[in-house]
Amino acid sequence: MLSGKRVLLIIGGGIAAYKCLDLIRRLKERGAAVTPVMTRAAGEFVTALSVSALAGEKVYSDLFDLTDEAEMGHIQLSRVADLVLVAPATADLMAKMATGQAGDLATTLLLATDTPVMIAPAMNVRMWDHPATQRNLGVLRQDGVTVVGPNEGDMACGEFGPGRMAEPLEIVAAVDALLTVGPLAGKRIVVTSGPTHEPIDPVRYIANRSSGAQGTAIAAALQALGAEVVFVTGPAEVSPPDGVEVVPVETAVQMRDAVRAALPADAAVFAAAVADWRVVGASDSKIKKIAGALPTLSFEENPDILAEISQMSDGRPGLVVGFAAETDDVIANATAKRARKHCDWIVANDVSPATGIMGGDENAVTLISDAGVEDWPRMGKDAVAQQLAARIADRLV
Ligand code: C5P
Repeated sequence: MLSGKRVLLIIGGGIAAYKCLDLIRRLKERGAAVTPVMTRAAGEFVTALSVSALAGEKVYSDLFDLTDEAEMGHIQLSRVADLVLVAPATADLMAKMATGQAGDLATTLLLATDTPVMIAPAMNVRMWDHPATQRNLGVLRQDGVTVVGPNEGDMACGEFGPGRMAEPLEIVAAVDALLTVGPLAGKRIVVTSGPTHEPIDPVRYIANRSSGAQGTAIAAALQALGAEVVFVTGPAEVSPPDGVEVVPVETAVQMRDAVRAALPADAAVFAAAVADWRVVGASDSKIKKIAGALPTLSFEENPDILAEISQMSDGRPGLVVGFAAETDDVIANATAKRARKHCDWIVANDVSPATGIMGGDENAVTLISDAGVEDWPRMGKDAVAQQLAARIADRLV
């Protein structure tokens, strides 16, 4: 339920604006109050009269409306809500948000707000796929904006593909998930994920096959329980989850520095596959291929982030969780690893090829803690993440 919650709904100028009328009804059905804001273009698609009648509140649309400023200034308007929801978020609005423009009331509110922001994009499929829009989407996600949709389907313009605004009930479910206080509300958790890339020269690097799937699922599950998640990720295949603070890094040293900068935290989960070594004196220019002469690379050890953070004497997170991917003697090796690294929990799994776990959607893990060894049944990586997040919540509250 959303009773007691206020949503500042910014309606952008797109054909999907008609769905906002239903969205307002659905939000109000669940007990939310809705303060509507319309861009000038939105008025071409829905009338302020319908919006205001359904919301039961006046529609704000003009930055320079002196009566509004007398009643409630635009800064105050941007902060009275628990959530700023932009639906439909047009390509134009997304671009303006990504570049911090503030030329009208809607964009000024988005720049001035200190509350969470969610967008429901809607646009023509080519506009959605355009690198500029995808670039803006990446920036907005990094800024912590939650994105719901768009869905794939027939579009008003006659084309087919991603670009349809999410349905009102999907948006309401996302609002619910964001605003309902979870057991991890107020807890800050750092999650590492993905591989690291260790440069040989500006164009070559040493990497590993980690996709980042399990780390991403864990960050999403922690965030869904209300945690403030700092997601420190190497160059992964999977996109980071919405609503978390993303810190992209390449190397193990950068990952260690980013983790340290993200502290203090209540917990840290180290799901990244960090390269054990880096090349000594990586070249600043591309190493030339010379017939018959092979380059010699020498290596030095990378910081062991899990071990380093676990052994901090000052400011150690209250709970430190590591992973152990093993092919033999899983329990014995993982138990030894937990002791060697001084972490609280180790999530161990058997990654021998016969298990099909590496690169697959499922995982069968064993949780090793001071309480002993606990085998979890084989389940999807999302379910492993949710169960782990629930256990972390049990431990932290
Ligand atoms: O030693 P090993 O790589 O098997 O340990 C795995 C665990 O340690 C994982 O949680 C991984 O994220 C973490 N780790 C780390 N920094 C490293 C190596 C591993 O944080 N340099």
